[in-house]
Amino acid sequence: MASSLKNPNVFIGPRQGAALNAFLKKNKYSSIFIICDSNTLKHCLSPLVLSCISLKEAEVIELEPGEDSKHIEVLGSIWQTLTDFGADKKSLIINLGGGVVSDIGGFAASTYKRGIDYINIPTTLLAIADASVGGKTGINFSGIKNLLGTITQPKAVFVDALFLKTLPTRHIINGFAEIIKIALVQDKKFFTAISHLKINSNYNNAAVIKKAISLKTGVIKKDPNEKSLRKILNFGHTIGHAVESLFLEKEYSLLHGEAIAIGMIVESYLCLTLKRITKTEFNLIHKSLAVNFKFYKIPAEDLARFVEYLSQDKKNINKTYLFALLKGIGKCDPQVKVSRAQTGKALAYYNSKIANAS
Ligand code: GLY
Repeated sequence: MASSLKNPNVFIGPRQGAALNAFLKKNKYSSIFIICDSNTLKHCLSPLVLSCISLKEAEVIELEPGEDSKHIEVLGSIWQTLTDFGADKKSLIINLGGGVVSDIGGFAASTYKRGIDYINIPTTLLAIADASVGGKTGINFSGIKNLLGTITQPKAVFVDALFLKTLPTRHIINGFAEIIKIALVQDKKFFTAISHLKINSNYNNAAVIKKAISLKTGVIKKDPNEKSLRKILNFGHTIGHAVESLFLEKEYSLLHGEAIAIGMIVESYLCLTLKRITKTEFNLIHKSLAVNFKFYKIPAEDLARFVEYLSQDKKNINKTYLFALLKGIGKCDPQVKVSRAQTGKALAYYNSKIANAS
């Protein structure tokens, strides 16, 4: 199901309606389906349709907001709607939303009739900086995040930071974690430029957003199917996904970026113990994450569950943990073997020296 990135087609900037209209006219789709959740239906659909006349006849598929929608039954209902409305190979799916919408909508498109076109119109900073670009699609299965999925490139991505105005600050900060990540693994100068930024509700820094997307597309162009280099985008995610899964079981669940910020600090400590970064670099990373993120403790009684989640990580091979780890700030190796003991030490350090009491 993998496809190469022949045409990344990422359009960035305000008022994307005209570009989208031109794209739709050129491609002459037989029918168009817009997948959104109830939030993007309320806040983003009307401005989108008003700005792009070709969408007036589109069918709208509404999902419940949130991770629970990345479910096989929801996927089934999307396939069913496509079938009921006679979608053919020349139909198009438009994913209007955050990562949940683009993940499941992209998966539906990449499997329906063995693949139809889809485009992403991300409406969250997290989706703009990460999920909308690169073609990862998927759903959760058997309690495991993104267990089923494909890598299928969107036909185009239209990024308009105008949609960020509808987001609460916590969700803007959420996306900023992925911007810090791409800087840490790719570009020291960019990291230095953004490391002190305190994110507020008006955050809409076009230059930072553009730079983050161009760094990501640079990686995707070289390794669309995650054979090697693309794995560097998983920095912070091995620990981060386990943190996210653990907190999903709790009353107070963490957003993806909040969990990844914790993942980045634990994995940076691993880099320090493996002499891949200096103490000064570790302190810089810690300080920059601390500007916007809270470091929640991983309770001692949850450590066994945590290790279970770590063991399910898709990157593990033959029960060895494989991390994407920094080699200085701005560089990253895609696959570094790390023992369970080293990982345990990093977690213990995080819990005792970094995590807040709460
Ligand atoms: N989110 C990491 C990637 O797209 O590879």
